[in-house]
Amino acid sequence: MKGNEKISFTAEAVAFMRASENSDRFSKYFLSESAKKKFNLISKLIPQSYLKTIFGRRIALSEDLDKMIDSYHPEQIIELACGYSPRGLVFTSKNKKLIYIESDFSSVIDKKREIINTILKDNKIKLSKNHHFVKIDSISDDLVNSLGKVIDKNKKTLILSEGFVSYLNKEEHDFLISNISNLLSKVKNGTYLGHESKFKMLNGVIGKLLLIYRNIVSKTKSNKHFNNAEEIKEYFISHGFRKIKVIDSKKSGNTIYLAIK
Ligand SMILES: C[S@@+](CC[C@H](N)C(=O)[O-])C[C@H]1O[C@@H](n2cnc3c(N)ncnc32)[C@H](O)[C@@H]1O
Repeated sequence: MKGNEKISFTAEAVAFMRASENSDRFSKYFLSESAKKKFNLISKLIPQSYLKTIFGRRIALSEDLDKMIDSYHPEQIIELACGYSPRGLVFTSKNKKLIYIESDFSSVIDKKREIINTILKDNKIKLSKNHHFVKIDSISDDLVNSLGKVIDKNKKTLILSEGFVSYLNKEEHDFLISNISNLLSKVKNGTYLGHESKFKMLNGVIGKLLLIYRNIVSKTKSNKHFNNAEEIKEYFISHGFRKIKVIDSKKSGNTIYLAIK
């Protein structure tokens, strides 16, 4: 199996949502001029109230995941399919001891590193020595091989993916979770943090049109993996996890889960 690099288009779309809502001070840097023009044009064709709702829900999802991370107190975070999320920068600037490993396709990681260099210069900040970037195709590379050199096996570890698994079909998702389970069995206190949308993020006629546009540009489609909390629990138990904590978020319309190894 090989990942579909065209999905990386969606990373810029999420950066646009964060930048439009001013959710943090870094997201605006991750938008190229051409992406800004393109998304601004699309936005003009859509009622503001609709955009506000969609952007608000998407940002609420990131905030939900941030809260779960904070409540878990990890010493090491591995973010798969990190895209242009500013989380690595934000978390490492708050906690210098935290090991933060971001991963995505090599094209995304190359671009992210370049942009982060600009952010560091502009904001007169330094990259934490514990902040790493690794090029990984999460549905084809072996995580233990790819991350073996950077991870500290004695740290309490959280693997996280945001806005990623809905792009995977069942076979790809099974591969990813087995891969994650295998890596977590090698570290101290390993846990996976994921989420499942309870309803279509993009609803109504406008949502359908936006999805058609996204699916054409990124040659993908949305997949649902779980219908309820019970299915999440059964699935992760059958993939070698010990305990599953499931939380319902009304604000983001997502079911957030922590699968503990
Ligand atoms: C919707 S974006 C979300 C990015 C980021 N997590 C965020 O919330 O801003 C989806 C991300 O998944 C990445 N992706 C898709 N398939 C992947 C794969 N097989 N391996 C690694 N990254 C992948 C894309 O490159 C893109 O950055």
